Amino acid sequence: MRLRTLSGGAGEGVGQRRSTIYWGVEKTFYIETFGCQMNAHDSEKVIGTLEHEGYMRVQDEADAGLILYNTCSIRDKAEQKVFHRLNEYKRLQGEGKRFAVLGCVAQQEGEKIFEKAPYVSIVSGSASYRKLPEMLARLEAGEKRITGLDDRQTEETFDTEFTSRTNPHRGYITIVEGCDKFCAYCVVPYTRGKERSRASDSVMAEARRMADAGFTEIQLLGQNVNSYRDPSGKMTFAELLAAVGCVAGIRRVRFTTSHPRDFTREIVQAIDAVPTLCDHVHLPVQSGSTRVLAAMNREYTREWYLERIAWIKAARREISMTSDIIVGFPGETEAELEETATLLEEVKYDAVFCFKYSSRPNTPAMGMADSIAEEEKVRRLQVILDRQREVQRKGYARHLGQVMEVMVEGHNASRGQVVGRSSQNKTVNFTVKQPILPALGSYPMVRITETFPNSLVGEAVAG
Ligand code: SAH
Ligand code: SF4
Ligand code: F3S
Repeated sequence: MRLRTLSGGAGEGVGQRRSTIYWGVEKTFYIETFGCQMNAHDSEKVIGTLEHEGYMRVQDEADAGLILYNTCSIRDKAEQKVFHRLNEYKRLQGEGKRFAVLGCVAQQEGEKIFEKAPYVSIVSGSASYRKLPEMLARLEAGEKRITGLDDRQTEETFDTEFTSRTNPHRGYITIVEGCDKFCAYCVVPYTRGKERSRASDSVMAEARRMADAGFTEIQLLGQNVNSYRDPSGKMTFAELLAAVGCVAGIRRVRFTTSHPRDFTREIVQAIDAVPTLCDHVHLPVQSGSTRVLAAMNREYTREWYLERIAWIKAARREISMTSDIIVGFPGETEAELEETATLLEEVKYDAVFCFKYSSRPNTPAMGMADSIAEEEKVRRLQVILDRQREVQRKGYARHLGQVMEVMVEGHNASRGQVVGRSSQNKTVNFTVKQPILPALGSYPMVRITETFPNSLVGEAVAG
């Protein structure tokens, strides 16, 4: 149901402010999202759910009756941002607006958010989003403090047919929610609830619906996407990957994030067998030191990890590998940092996301002294970034002269330039000879003429 907008409508004539909430007449919302891809996709599902409930999305918070804030608490900085922003919202409270704090900070802080920001009406973690329609009804009925908090009990996943995807070509499907790994530094097991997978039939139905709607790329999501356990017992993760890759109309399938503990040879075999599965694996190692890995509770050693990398390197297709690294974990020595640097050089990753260790509430590592000073963490971060840049400078050069399929993501029409992404997830900037640029979401072939440590440059070729 589309409700009428206020401009020219009842609101203006009677001198009410545009920002007033008109329950039952006009329900507008504004949403802001931080954090990982799972949060981005949750917001798409929340948007779809709100629209189904008769709310209309606006792009400016000043026009919204309900302001939703989907938060991240993976590192301290992310969490600080939330309270900073909530403080800014304070000035809007006099205008009759309602506020909802969603996501990982909501789950982590719970009702404490009402103390810090009394103008907030809804506090909900991701494991409670399926109750959103009920929470909205209570809000509309005038309730002031509504919580949706999970105690790691829920077995349910947030599946909805009302997802409002931002990109018409490429879309996410969450297949695993929560996490049971309890890495010593990480908040996710506490903020996202226990690990639970979505039935393969439901995932396949959504993939087919997306293909019918014109999507050509699907990205399967989970904090541990490869710990997928089909509740119906029909498919392994690798079988599900292959099945999604075989949906008519789907040209690319990605999956993120894989945990080394659950990485199987079957996944590499699936990539080799099904051409639509992208030749890229994101397999975060976190540290190259077996001692640090044990302290992090990652449950693998350097050698065990490198064995999985050897499987990937032995594939028939050249599979690009990327990783996440944490520097400055409590007690990390200079020699252990060096082990991480040599691991980067041994694996030859195509991209690494490197973070300074940040002590998080509730986590086991919180009890360990955060022993490494901030400036030392900054230095260590730089060591890793410099060493990795050199790996990528050499590594990206292998693409010189290659012809590859690129999915078009953006244009600079005046300069005849196009930006896209390769199957290996690399950014490719290219030019075209024809006056008409290839459409967004199309897949032209591009010859690589120049390489950089983070991107490729080329020109479109016929065919
Ligand atoms: N589930 C994924 C990662 C989730 S969080 C995995 O297991 O690999 C994304 C990244 O944030 C992690 O890979 C890690 O490198 C980083 N991270 C998580 N907690 C952190 C913390 N407390 N301090 C610094 N970086 C952290
Ligand atoms: Fe966090 Fe570890 Fe779970 Fe990844 S696997 S989300 S790093 S606890
Ligand atoms: Fe942040 Fe929560 Fe994702 S902590 S990284 S939004 S799972």
